[in-house]
Amino acid sequence: MTQEIDIRKSDMKSKNEQNRRNFLKLGAAFGTSMITASAFGSMQPAGSQLSTGARAASTSTKVRTLGSGNHALEVSPIGLGCMSMTSGSYNPPRSKKEMIPVIRGAFDQGVTFFDTAEFYGPFTNEELVGEALAPIRNQVVIGTKFGFEFKDGKPVGKNSRPEHIRQAVEGMLRRLKTDRIDLLYMHRIDPNVPIEDIAGTVRDLIKEGKALHFGLSETSPDTTRRAHAVQPVTALQTQYSLLQRFPENQVLDTCEELGIGFVPWGPVARGFLTDKFNEWSRFSEGRHAVVPEFEPEALKNNMELLCLVRDWAMRKDATPAQISLAWLLAQKPFIVPIPGTTKLHHLKEDLGALDVRFTAGELEEFRTAFEKIDLINVRSFESAKEDQ
Ligand SMILES: NC(=O)c1ccc[n+]([C@@H]2O[C@H](COP(=O)([O-])OP(=O)(O)OC[C@H]3O[C@@H](n4cnc5c(N)ncnc54)[C@H](OP(=O)(O)O)[C@@H]3O)[C@@H](O)[C@H]2O)c1
Repeated sequence: MTQEIDIRKSDMKSKNEQNRRNFLKLGAAFGTSMITASAFGSMQPAGSQLSTGARAASTSTKVRTLGSGNHALEVSPIGLGCMSMTSGSYNPPRSKKEMIPVIRGAFDQGVTFFDTAEFYGPFTNEELVGEALAPIRNQVVIGTKFGFEFKDGKPVGKNSRPEHIRQAVEGMLRRLKTDRIDLLYMHRIDPNVPIEDIAGTVRDLIKEGKALHFGLSETSPDTTRRAHAVQPVTALQTQYSLLQRFPENQVLDTCEELGIGFVPWGPVARGFLTDKFNEWSRFSEGRHAVVPEFEPEALKNNMELLCLVRDWAMRKDATPAQISLAWLLAQKPFIVPIPGTTKLHHLKEDLGALDVRFTAGELEEFRTAFEKIDLINVRSFESAKEDQ
């Protein structure tokens, strides 16, 4: 951890270095005097006493609403993506013993929205999330996703046939130790099943009380619209960050028009926007080793965006991760990012984004600057029109 922070700070200017040191000092204080009782009876940091330097975890109790009308769902303005805790995506899978305190610590910091999927592990992530949240089940919102078939613990393809969705949901309920799924997403469209049949199956599951709200992931505006006509959609979860802005091509507009919430995954661009990597970073395993935005050429080229984010971090007395998340929150009131992390101190940093505000003029100035940057190896705006 120390090494990671050292690398991250190595090319930052002095004011931001001071901010981070303040943040780390506050982090150290968490372990000693600034403590309060948590929902789990353990000693937890009192974020309300923190205000200086890079913003520490916000104690904001504000909520955001995903979806509308009878299909609205209130959640914390920032959720927790639990994927990397067990998926092996960005780090080796962590133990339940290590991760349960992170999930429960998130709740103690005000997070009520937790993201998982049967794909993550597979299954181990839902088991972890279920166990971690069981004592506070009625106070949290769990989102999970179906859409794949597994054999011998490995995904073997997409499958959203109605009987398979029903079977998947039974497994989810068992692993999540619950009698209902608050937000049931279709993870990826199955090209062999019409979206109307998938939405119809979720509609029936909602009638039966096994699911409470319907979500989609990575669907085109057209598919989203067709699904919504059968069963109103509460949230669309799609990749979106300062690095990957393709949802600005009709996806966000469609959500706004239909009253659908938007949950950006990859909100800190798989760590790129937290300033933990640089142009010399190289990856031999996990997702970073295979996604195009982490290829050497892309890291080098796209560093210009990170430099801009760093500048704004200095200007707003925040960290790059906080600027990235605050910018997402400022785009639309129905946006709820779910940064993924395996570390409570990173989550606290991410939650500090709730205290970063942009004026309309600042948002315009920021956009003018980042739109001039010619990013490479990112998803094209055209790709927003296709189901992924
Ligand atoms: N619907 C979909 O298809 C889909 C796809 C992918 C992910 N998701 C969901 O979206 C969630 C978030 O996406 P993601 O995890 O892919 O990407 P992300 O949130 O942009 O990035 C996660 C990475 O950022 C690092 N990080 C987070 N906050 C940090 C901080 N303050 N300082 C330094 N590093 C920080 C984490 O490392 P540390 O562990 O070291 O903090 C982790 O490796 C996932 O957990 C998952 O639930 C959904």
